[in-house]
Amino acid sequence: MRRLIAIVDQENGVAKGGGIPWSFPEDLAFFRQKTRGATVFMGRKTFLGLPVRPLPDKHNVVLSRTHSTLPGAEVFTSLEKALEQYSDGWIMGGAQLYAYALEQELVDMVYLTRMRQAYGADVCLKDAHWKAFSWYKLRETEGADFLLGLRSVPPNTRESL
Ligand SMILES: NC(=O)c1ccc[n+]([C@@H]2O[C@H](COP(=O)([O-])OP(=O)(O)OC[C@H]3O[C@@H](n4cnc5c(N)ncnc54)[C@H](OP(=O)(O)O)[C@@H]3O)[C@@H](O)[C@H]2O)c1
Repeated sequence: MRRLIAIVDQENGVAKGGGIPWSFPEDLAFFRQKTRGATVFMGRKTFLGLPVRPLPDKHNVVLSRTHSTLPGAEVFTSLEKALEQYSDGWIMGGAQLYAYALEQELVDMVYLTRMRQAYGADVCLKDAHWKAFSWYKLRETEGADFLLGLRSVPPNTRESL
């Protein structure tokens, strides 16, 4: 099962100025619980921006075409190859890697935390990125909905719809 985990604001924003423009400990706890002990896939910029690097208690896989090694991580030049090797890993950002994975239809399941406020993000995903999934609300809190998306449109059928 190819899985993606993300938090977005009301406008599908994922990042601002190279960081995340909100603090939401409940989502952080959810992320830690879901990915504990697992393989996580992240873009080179997300990895290099981590305050603690590598992420503890996880197998850190970094996607990069410019760096062949990064301390604490296993580096792949292709997400497809990384997913072939670690099929039960989690795609955990950033924006560029999310967009690539969703547009190439490499994701079967999404855990998406959708916040109710906008935070002026300068990098956003699009509603179209989430269209291939059926959505179920796992939990609702004051600040956000915790959603599960399961692929409802089989990969590579977009053109014929
Ligand atoms: N909201 C969330 O859930 C969330 C989660 C994680 C991160 N973030 C935020 O997202 C921001 C970073 O996102 P970003 O879009 O700037 O960068 P990013 O996706 O983390 O990293 C981009 C880099 O990753 C590599 N890469 C991406 N896709 C690739 C692919 N398909 N194949 C091979 N390499 C690939 C490239 O590295 P090279 O240039 O080395 O080739 C690319 O320059 C940060 O602000 C971070 O805090 C948000």
